[in-house]
This record gives sequence, structure tokens and C-alpha cells, in this order.
Amino acid sequence: MSLMSDFPILGADENGKRLVYLDNAATTQHPLQVLDAVRNYYTCDNANPHRGVYELARKATDIHEQARATVARFLNASRPEEIIFTQNTTEALNLVASSYGMKYVGEGDEIVISVSEHHSNLVPWQRVAGARKAKLKYLYPGEDGRYTGEAINEIITEKTKVVAIAQVSNVLGLVNPIDKVVRRAHEVGAVVVLDCAQSTPHMKVDVQALDVDFAAFSGHKIYAPMGTGALYGRYDLLEKMPPYMSGGDMINQVHEYKTTFAKPPRKFEAGTRNVGGEAGLAAAIDYIESIGWETIESTEDRLMKLALDGMREFPEVKIYGDDSSAGRKGVISFNIGDVHPHDVASIMDANGVAIRAGHHCAQPLMDFLKINSCCRVSFALYNTEDDVKIFLDSIMKVRSWMGLGS
Ligand code: ALA
Repeated sequence: MSLMSDFPILGADENGKRLVYLDNAATTQHPLQVLDAVRNYYTCDNANPHRGVYELARKATDIHEQARATVARFLNASRPEEIIFTQNTTEALNLVASSYGMKYVGEGDEIVISVSEHHSNLVPWQRVAGARKAKLKYLYPGEDGRYTGEAINEIITEKTKVVAIAQVSNVLGLVNPIDKVVRRAHEVGAVVVLDCAQSTPHMKVDVQALDVDFAAFSGHKIYAPMGTGALYGRYDLLEKMPPYMSGGDMINQVHEYKTTFAKPPRKFEAGTRNVGGEAGLAAAIDYIESIGWETIESTEDRLMKLALDGMREFPEVKIYGDDSSAGRKGVISFNIGDVHPHDVASIMDANGVAIRAGHHCAQPLMDFLKINSCCRVSFALYNTEDDVKIFLDSIMKVRSWMGLGS
């Protein structure tokens, strides 16, 4: 089943050329269903939610709150009030670090993160550790890029207050053993902050089954508009956290010198919200669910295997992390000999293939891998076997342009 017809940007141009878009870990393209939902909101339903008493404002409020319920269903939160809308994963993680971290991490406490974290789940914790005189500690993977139960049990101690980790690394693409992290973290009374930016596009994320305390994701990586995303937080934790930003709509009562705050989630949603984007986010979730996780996972897993099998044929291609497709989602990072990743990406671009090259906002992982940068190919539900074939042909082109191989 080809879904490409739902995505206008992926269609052929007047010369019959089409884009082979394989930078989905950076951002995905948008189906008509999402674009229509945003357009429909601004055409028919736009007003400021939670403020007006007139009918249009009630409609906008309903769309805002229905979108929250849809996100709660998507993550299997136990109630919609556990969902806070944010601009993206970065804002959601900063919210937890600034609000929970700055209040509940103290001098001598420890924060544990993995060395493969995206800067968004690393720099905020560096700042909390610095401000609170706490210690930031790193979990390191084995040579295969996988985190072991032994390493997890060793690094998380009685002093650990927060463990922040991605469910899937945006570079290695490997699914981390979150069950082991949660078991150990909860044993010592630490909270677990899960970065789901790279997992939500590829697999069902169930925050109750995972038993995490916080989880963050971005809309723009799951076919929804940029500027949308959410933080899941356990309600009892959200209740005891101070606000992140202050201003309109997050208050209960404001007096000249004292303010009381609204209950979660509104305590964390200051200012006018991106309701048009939220309508698009809800439509994207409906779109994903209408296709179904079984279809999405089997399609993407097949493409992943095809790409890895093809890449292994080239002796100059170095894949980072365990190069099997098992326990891998969405992403393959690689280098081709010592060709600069920007040269690889530019040659591929000339062949109509979009991949990402750089440090992928994961510089400590680059140091750990002893590289400056790498290339990354990443898949989405609309990619096809033909896309993988064109990508593999492009590796051939890079080899011949750069005088590699025979
Ligand atoms: N976080 C996005 C990526 O990994 C932008 O490409």
C-alpha cells in the first residue's frame, strides 16, 4: 500500500522527478489530512480557547481539549490532565528540568543521563546540575551501542534523583532497555524522564506500561505541524511542580503581590496556545492510528532490513551501533570511508535523495564514537522499497565519485 499520494510534497514534479525523502528523524512530511485539519481550524473554528464565552470560543476550547484527549490516548496516559502542550520535545524536556529539576534536585544529588542523548535531553540537565550543585553522571553503551542491565544498575545509585534517557537514540536508532532503567530508578526513588522524540514515530509508546514519570515528544516528527508537541507527566508530580512560564491563563487568582496557580495542565500552559497546530497534531495521530502500528512497524522494519543488508555489501560503509535490524527503529547512521558526511549528503542530494549529515545534536556521542560527524538515513511510514534502492544506488555513486571500491 503506497501512502505517498497523501503527501503532496513527495509527488513527482512536472519533469517526473520526485524527492526521495530520508531525513524523517529530523522532521516528517505532512499528509493532506493534517493540512486539512489545520486549514479547517483557521477557516471555521479559530478563537482564543478558555477565554471567550461566545460559541466560536467554545468551539476552539473543545478542539484544544479534544486534541489533549487524543494525545492522552496516543500515549495511554491515565487522564488528559497529564498532557501539557509544548512547542516540541525540547520545550517539554526544558519544562521538566526547570520545574522539577531545579526544585527537587539538590546539592550532592545525582542526575543520570546516557551519552547518546540529544542535546535537548543533556544541556538542560547540565544546567540543573550546575545550578543545584548536583553531579551529572553518564551511562555508556557497549561497543554495539546497547546499554546493559549491569551498567544501568551500577550508574543509578541511592543518590540518583533523575534519570533522563531517550527511548530510541536519534543517532544509533537502537531501542534502549527502558524497563531496566525504570526498575532500577524506581528502586532508588528516582524519576525517569523519557525522550520519545524518535520512538513515537515508529512504535506504540504506552507511558503506563513503561511506568515512566515524564515523557516528551514532538508533533513534527509524527506528521503534525512544527511547533507542536507534548509533555506527559504523572499527575501527582505535576501537582507539586512550580510553573515553568508565567502569564495569562495559568493562574487561579492574581493580586498585586501574590498569585495562585491553576491546576495542571493549565499551570504549565501560559499564553495563547497553538490550537491550529494541536488540531493538526490530533489529525496526525488519527492518521497514524488509522494505518495501525502493525502495518507501520512491518513496513518500516522491512525497509530497515533492506537498507542494512544493502549497506553491509559495501566494505567502506561503517554503520554505528549494532548493525542488525532487531531492536532498531527508524534510523541508521553511517560513514563511507573517510568521505566527509557533507560530501556524501551533497552527492546524494544531486541524486534526489535527502539525508542528514552532521553531529545530529549529539556531540558527546560523537566523541564517544571518536568521530566528528556522520551521515544518517531515517525512514517514515510513506517510504518505499524503491526509496531504499535509490539510496543504495546513491552510495554506489558516492563510491565512484570519490574513487572508492573497485
Ligand atoms: N532532533 C532532530 C534530529 O535528530 C532535529 O535530526
